Amino acid sequence: MKRFIYIAGILLVLCMAIVSFVRYADLESDRNRPDDRIQSSRELLTSNPHESALRMRRPPTNAPHTSEPSEDILLVNAENPLPKEFHPENLVNLYDQKHRHFQLAQADIEVCETVFEAMDAMFAAAQKEGVKGFIITSGYRSREEQKEIFSTSTDGTAARPGESEHETGLAFDVTTMGDENFELTPQFEWLSNHCAEFGFIIRYPKGMEDVTGYPYEPWHYRYVGKAHAANIMDKELTLEQYLEER
Ligand code: DAL
Ligand code: ZN
Repeated sequence: MKRFIYIAGILLVLCMAIVSFVRYADLESDRNRPDDRIQSSRELLTSNPHESALRMRRPPTNAPHTSEPSEDILLVNAENPLPKEFHPENLVNLYDQKHRHFQLAQADIEVCETVFEAMDAMFAAAQKEGVKGFIITSGYRSREEQKEIFSTSTDGTAARPGESEHETGLAFDVTTMGDENFELTPQFEWLSNHCAEFGFIIRYPKGMEDVTGYPYEPWHYRYVGKAHAANIMDKELTLEQYLEER
């Protein structure tokens, strides 16, 4: 009997030792898991820095875009006419805007609010550099107004109704007092060098008639936003070519 108790005691001690060892091993493996995670994210950061940086910078899908979206350019030309019911939002009457840095050929000229703000900043900057006397001759045109202009134009500079950027409220025409040829004025020189800084492009550039479908118009400026304007003007592209490239 004594012998039996002795053997049972040894077996019990052995069992307890085995159970303790298994629990210790589990604890150890748990303790190692966080280190594994740190290690793998370290590997992610160092194995391919470019890819890791991209992964880390990628915003959540619902994060607001900070750069200008690339789908925001409205192309209007003979191949891409505006729908009949198109009417721009947020038009502002330029005559109503106090302290603007340009003059007006008439009192009823309108453009989209964003365009007005960009125009005013641009002409204020020109004035600061001693270049003034800009006169806005046209902005937003209704389909009816464009119809009227197209029916009386003989030099090919008027778009068909529905095919004019003026119907978007994103374009304006400019001239200066007493100058027959705007292209030869210091005002044009300043604008052609600086318009992109304010989000504008010369929409119908010289030598691009085959692409745009219109003669050179140094007086017609189209708002596309600063990033796009800088690309277009730097690369000397038409809007058609720029959109084709992307
Ligand atoms: N002069 C430009 C092409 C227009 O009529 O919209
Ligand atoms: Zn125009």
